[in-house]
Amino acid sequence: MSIYPPEPFRIKMVEPVRLISRAEREAALRAAGYNLFALNAEDVFIDLLTDSGTGAMSQEQWAGMMRGDESYAGARSYQRLSRVVRDVFGFDLFVPTHQGRAAENILANLLIKPGMKVPSNMHFDTTEGNIRARGGLPVNLVIDEAYDPQNRHPFKGNMDIAKLTAFIEQTGVENIPFGSITVTNNAGGGQPVSMENLRAVADTYHRYNIPFFIDCCRFAENAYFIKTREPGYAAKSTREIAREMFDLADGTWMSAKKDAIVNIGGLLAVRDPQLFQQICNQLILREGFISYGGLAGRDLEALAIGLEEGLDEDYLAYRLGQTAYLANRLLEGGIGVIEPPGGHAVYVDAGRLLPHIPPAEFPGQALSAALYLEGGIRSVEIGSVMFAHPDPESGKMVHPRLELVRLAIPRRTYTQSHMDFVVETFYKIKENKDALRGFRFTYAPELLRHFTCRFEPV
Ligand code: F0G
Repeated sequence: MSIYPPEPFRIKMVEPVRLISRAEREAALRAAGYNLFALNAEDVFIDLLTDSGTGAMSQEQWAGMMRGDESYAGARSYQRLSRVVRDVFGFDLFVPTHQGRAAENILANLLIKPGMKVPSNMHFDTTEGNIRARGGLPVNLVIDEAYDPQNRHPFKGNMDIAKLTAFIEQTGVENIPFGSITVTNNAGGGQPVSMENLRAVADTYHRYNIPFFIDCCRFAENAYFIKTREPGYAAKSTREIAREMFDLADGTWMSAKKDAIVNIGGLLAVRDPQLFQQICNQLILREGFISYGGLAGRDLEALAIGLEEGLDEDYLAYRLGQTAYLANRLLEGGIGVIEPPGGHAVYVDAGRLLPHIPPAEFPGQALSAALYLEGGIRSVEIGSVMFAHPDPESGKMVHPRLELVRLAIPRRTYTQSHMDFVVETFYKIKENKDALRGFRFTYAPELLRHFTCRFEPV
């Protein structure tokens, strides 16, 4: 029996949602070219497209919005955010950015030259896109267990240290501008990275003088997994654990739209004063002055408050419990998901559910479309639509090892009955799964194509 943890909050403002009719859903999907990104949000009943910027802010954050200082330079809200960043992350040098990919763009622009390679456990799509946009090559070196959905390794986001060392030796330090790791590993199931692994990754990078960056948008969820799964950490606070993680790194970037529970925002922090100077110059050119980085003062205020709230352990226990509830109920119904449940999302193994649809016809897309038609639920494909690409040498299509559909859970937003509705919709789809058909592109741009591509049914 799956247990749903009671929410450590109550609801004081509501936003209506509506399930439109089946005929209306069919028309909406067709008009969207079968790409769920192109739907009107009002035509969606339960929106699990992303956990990014979609969470519910707290009363403290909304009160903070009213206190936001909109001064162009040196605003009070920026000072507050600086204090929190110093305290939570231990970085003195940081800039706010409008979101995570803005930080990625600045970093890639400053550090990556064509032909360079950037290792990580797994890069997320925007990071990959920013590296490729500068002529670089993202390289994923996660442990093999990550590719086995049923393997219940507690830290499937870990990097394979032997692979990393071999990669550095083969590539040459001069071709590696920086090394990174994503916590939790979004592209690989929202799976955490252990402190032991973070330490080994940092040691390896540092042995070769490669700067180590953490892509940290879900750092609080990662820290809570360390507390509950890694020996020796049960008695430490999530906050202490987070600080221990960041103490290993030379820099970090964050999409604050995740664990800082704000609708917009990000940050980029480093230790090297020279690099920081260059970052500031880039920021001023593209984002805004160094004390606001493309955000309003009220956003900085909400971000400072959200960073602390995102570390609250009662909240994190509920948050990860909700994800586990959804994953376990799907498993009970024979729907394969990445196990054990990750942090921010449940990743359904579409390749396994729909073996009659080959990767080239996008089984994840077929399942995503079915979820919308059946229940007005919006999910996102994380498989060949997002990650298949032609091999630079042979030109042959390289498909990712897993064809997944991600059900990302916005923070503090949906209730148990919403999750139960999602489960029931899956059960209905499973009964008629053999009737589902694949898709082919009618339009696809070169980079980050999943956002704007269009399809037709095969
Ligand atoms: N890094 C990771 C691990 C992410 O998950 C994201 C965004 C980013 C960087 C980029 O941040 O959106 O603020 O520019 N992930 C969202 C998602 C979009 O749905 O997983 P951003």
